[in-house]
Amino acid sequence: MDSFKITGNRNLSGTIEVSGAKNAILPVMAACLLAPGKSVLRNVPNLIDLKTMSHLLRIIGARVEHVGSTMTIDASDICYIEAPYELVSQMRASIYVLGPLVARLKEARVSFPGGCAIGTRPVDLHLKALEALGVDIAIDHGYIHAKASKLKGAEIYFEKSSVGATINTLMAAVLAEGQTRLLNAAMEPEVDSTIDLLNKMGAKIEGKGSTTLTIQGVENLFPVEMTMIADRIEAGTFLIAGALSTSPVTVANCNPLHLGSALEKLREAGCELLVGESEITVHPPKIIKPFSLITLPYPGFPTDLQAQFMVLATLAEGMSFLEDTIFPDRFMHVAELNRLQADIRLNRNIATVKGVAKLSGAEVMATDLRASAALVLAGCVAEGETIVSRIYHIDRGYDRIEEKLNSIGARITRING
Ligand code: UD1
Repeated sequence: MDSFKITGNRNLSGTIEVSGAKNAILPVMAACLLAPGKSVLRNVPNLIDLKTMSHLLRIIGARVEHVGSTMTIDASDICYIEAPYELVSQMRASIYVLGPLVARLKEARVSFPGGCAIGTRPVDLHLKALEALGVDIAIDHGYIHAKASKLKGAEIYFEKSSVGATINTLMAAVLAEGQTRLLNAAMEPEVDSTIDLLNKMGAKIEGKGSTTLTIQGVENLFPVEMTMIADRIEAGTFLIAGALSTSPVTVANCNPLHLGSALEKLREAGCELLVGESEITVHPPKIIKPFSLITLPYPGFPTDLQAQFMVLATLAEGMSFLEDTIFPDRFMHVAELNRLQADIRLNRNIATVKGVAKLSGAEVMATDLRASAALVLAGCVAEGETIVSRIYHIDRGYDRIEEKLNSIGARITRING
């Protein structure tokens, strides 16, 4: 398993580029199953999770090619209805094939996703919503078996805001007979970009950017071309790299409108930000001020940036508080950051971070995607050498993170092992 050797150095400066958003591309890849023919997606980075999804789509019968940053998905002849355990256990987003398969083939068998490093992650909201659309759901031998003779529009209220459940339901409802209304739908930019793709394909979805979505079912959808949005979480990760540095860093190819809550926290920490149309320059503070944050559904602060902001808090002058209300167990990075001599105490889903003058390099282990990114950031600013092992987690969602960070002055070496 590969690891990173990082030599700490707080002098990062220059411009770093953001890639296409993994969490926007995964559902869009699944949505391509809805339209017979060849769809083309641009600005698609090279990530393990996208390879896993490509593999799954090929099993289902689609032809998927990924050359450079362009992906083509030909869903003319899809015929197989199963998402096997080996793939779903590697990547929970495999559940995204459920909606499109029942909508187009009227049947799907998707392995039940288990828990993962960030806690138990149920799919009850996905299943309840599909049932409301007329899908029969049975759970057998660890698989969700979904069947429908026809899908019928319905009014569906989500008890919790869920990105995955909103998108899965949308992907089924677009081919349902009649009108569907989704209440308390998630508003994340990744939901919006799926709506954009579906509407381009000929779906009729209204209400984008709000918590109420209205869908008029159509009979057929058509393949399309689309350029994927920038990854707001990768952008946020690089902004933290800048905030921890001693010189300005510009994060290019991003959408500042998707980063409102994170930018607010950076300002609270004392950063000066120069915000353009598609780039943000962060001028790091001389002294990082402590801050408090609570993760919430968009436009609230994203749980996917909680770990990275915790690294910033470790070097603040004073006490910071970070609460995760979306994934209350998402704190595996705390023990690892404390190995780097951070001072963090965890009480249920609230981390109290007492700022220290410096972090000190050590061996740490990546446990999940965003925790790994946090450890890389911490390694970049810790004194001495840090080894981050099990970095396959980071390759799931960051395209060549070491090359990108090295281009602004980090010293990260990949050790193949
Ligand atoms: C997506 C993102 C993930 C991000 C999360 C929250 C992808 C591939 N992953 O995950 O990176 O951290 O949004 O922004 O895009 N829940 C239920 N029942 C369900 C579904 C969800 O109780 O059926 C709960 C979850 O446990 C969690 C909350 O709802 O507490 C939000 O989860 P959700 O938005 O569904 O996350 P994902 O779509 O899995």
